[in-house]
Amino acid sequence: MQQVTQKPTSGAVAEEWRRRADRTGLARVMRASQPVELAAETTARTRRLVTEFLRSLGPIGTALEIGCGMGRITPTIAERAGAVTAVDMTPRMLALAEENCARLSNVEFEQLRVQRLPWRDKRFDVAVCVWVLMHVLDENEVAEACRSIAAAARHLVLIEYEEADIPVGRFSRLRPVEEYLALLPGSRLLERRELHYGGDRSFAALIALDGTR
Ligand SMILES: C[S@@+](CC[C@H](N)C(=O)[O-])C[C@H]1O[C@@H](n2cnc3c(N)ncnc32)[C@H](O)[C@@H]1O
Repeated sequence: MQQVTQKPTSGAVAEEWRRRADRTGLARVMRASQPVELAAETTARTRRLVTEFLRSLGPIGTALEIGCGMGRITPTIAERAGAVTAVDMTPRMLALAEENCARLSNVEFEQLRVQRLPWRDKRFDVAVCVWVLMHVLDENEVAEACRSIAAAARHLVLIEYEEADIPVGRFSRLRPVEEYLALLPGSRLLERRELHYGGDRSFAALIALDGTR
């Protein structure tokens, strides 16, 4: 008999992130099966990539970090932007991020889902989103998330898994960058690089969002 695996609901995904937030160290936001040294080294490379993309945009007034998790990348963004708004849907992740960024005076945090970003009358210079949209499983919801990002920011640094040697679990969905570009209104790919992590390959994209609101 054929087995039908049901896609987790967005409530089940949110519950999974509450559970993962109770892990220790980088395993909260990275593969728990990978060695801690590799997680730390990949984090350093991710920060460098984000810095290089942000630097290429010139001076940045406002930045939005979407799905900031425990604040792994937040200080890197705060170094290059006048003001950072960091959002995540998981309260414990936000509490950890606040702790990690306690010394930074230019970062504020908000509990929000990427599908429902509230900004309509202001646009951030750049949004940064690392390994978040791959956890929005539903196709309508990911389209909604992309519309809401395009309305909220002029540029997007997007890093998401494209290929995984170790199969991803049921809380992740791999999509190529082209799929996101098609969902982001008015998007233009400015630069594309790759990020390898223990056999997994992510695209790292700098995207202009010239789009309609
Ligand atoms: C793999 S972690 C990455 C965290 C951070 N971007 C980083 O690179 O360290 C994914 C994060 O996205 C958050 N997240 C997942 N789905 C979300 C959604 N629909 N809206 C907002 N945050 C979400 C989770 O709570 C978690 O903190």
